[in-house]
Amino acid sequence: MMAASRIAFPATPPAMPARDRLVLALGDGAAPDPDPAAEYAPIVLIRPAQPADVAEMMPILDGFAAQGLLLPRKPEDVLRTIDDFFVAVDPTGVVGCAGLRVYSPVLAEVVGVAVAERCQGRGIGRHLVETVVDEAMRLGIRRVFALTVQLEFFKKLGFSPTSVAEFPEKIERDCAGCARRSACIEVAVVRSLHGDPA
Ligand SMILES: CC(C)(COP(=O)(O)OP(=O)(O)OC[C@H]1O[C@@H](n2cnc3c(N)ncnc32)[C@H](O)[C@@H]1OP(=O)(O)O)[C@@H](O)C(=O)NCCC(=O)NCCS
Repeated sequence: MMAASRIAFPATPPAMPARDRLVLALGDGAAPDPDPAAEYAPIVLIRPAQPADVAEMMPILDGFAAQGLLLPRKPEDVLRTIDDFFVAVDPTGVVGCAGLRVYSPVLAEVVGVAVAERCQGRGIGRHLVETVVDEAMRLGIRRVFALTVQLEFFKKLGFSPTSVAEFPEKIERDCAGCARRSACIEVAVVRSLHGDPA
């Protein structure tokens, strides 16, 4: 049994801020078993992102953007919108992120959902999206949507497929000028909050 004192997080304050959450990322059989010789327990902290996190977020975001799974983002854009993001942190550093882009008092988009490949399949993506959805609820948002190639992942989190035409704000802001627009492989998904119909 690992001693609690060996679980070390960078700069974890003694009292956790209200918007932070600890996640037991134990895996579901899809991921390799935790290494019994590992220095740390498989616990992940999800907390609001800080400017200093950008350097560790970028390799994760860039890697998936290069695979066409995420829209490419410049570090300066991530920095400018850092308050939109939450990060998942393990003792090695940032291992995932997700953001909430607010369009109106009632509508927001889940953006930049990414979990480092070596940490996938352990529930971190689910906890990141749920954290972002909780944040949307806290803000009074009534519907959250995403454009994604990961339809099955979002369906597991209570999102339903829909048409991107439902979100003209998104089309105007991102799709209209996107080089990939004519060959877009992303689908729109939406989840209603506060019991509203999607
Ligand atoms: C999609 C992604 C964020 C999932 O993160 P993750 O930490 O591996 O996901 P989780 O372990 O939390 O999975 C939650 C559930 O979704 C399922 N799931 C995850 N990825 C899936 C996929 N690609 N296809 C089908 N189901 C998937 C899991 O099996 C799990 O189901 P369960 O609760 O029934 O066991 C991660 O694979 C990733 O970063 N992918 C590359 C970037 C990307 O595509 N981002 C989404 C763009 S919006």
